[in-house]
Amino acid sequence: DESEVVRFKRLAAERAVDSIQPGMVVGLGSGSTAAFVVRRLAALRAEGRLTDVVGVPTSVETEVLARSLGVPLTTLEEHPVVDLTIDGADEVDPQLRLIKGGGGALLREKIVAQASRREIIVVDAGKLSPRLGTRWPVPVEVLPFGWRSQALFLEGLGARITRREGPGGTPYRTDQGNLIFDCAFGPIERPEELAAKLEARAGIVAHGLFIGLTSELVVASPEGVEHRRP
Ligand code: A5P
Repeated sequence: DESEVVRFKRLAAERAVDSIQPGMVVGLGSGSTAAFVVRRLAALRAEGRLTDVVGVPTSVETEVLARSLGVPLTTLEEHPVVDLTIDGADEVDPQLRLIKGGGGALLREKIVAQASRREIIVVDAGKLSPRLGTRWPVPVEVLPFGWRSQALFLEGLGARITRREGPGGTPYRTDQGNLIFDCAFGPIERPEELAAKLEARAGIVAHGLFIGLTSELVVASPEGVEHRRP
């Protein structure tokens, strides 16, 4: 059986797939909600629909899933502009600013989002938040070189930090081989300012604040599925 939250994730994902048109290059997000997008695309293909759609995966995990279901894939090298990306998020504020990266795929997700004409974010209503940082830490991806210096820098910005753990007590490694610090700032007053500070720091490769990248939001809740467009 499917829990309520999982059902809302699936319903949001499936509604967003309605926006995919034949021939599109589609960015495939990462995480359990985005996985429902890939599954839906595969199901439509089996019915002979959207068979000419190609996907750009935002993580190795999504790439493996899409391949296993026979969804054709391409790369940003072949298609540097993506028509539409559908991705999940960990936290969404009223201005559609996001925290992403709970699954560790933040860098590729952001690269694909910035390369996309349209970015639809799909969430269950539990991800909505009055202020970013309330329910989720900001994941920050750092190069292994100098990581202890980055840890001090992040603490200096006021975060309580945790180095993400991987299997067997080893540090978690991103698809690029980097480390992630989950940075609990508490409610973030000015996400743009924090983002700018993180982006100015050498050795920080990516952070999970996604600002100005969401064009539409699909939210599923007990009240139904809502597609918010600008
Ligand atoms: C992956 O790196 C994240 O940005 C995901 O989009 C996020 O963690 C959402 O995950 P779920 O859809 O599994 O909740």
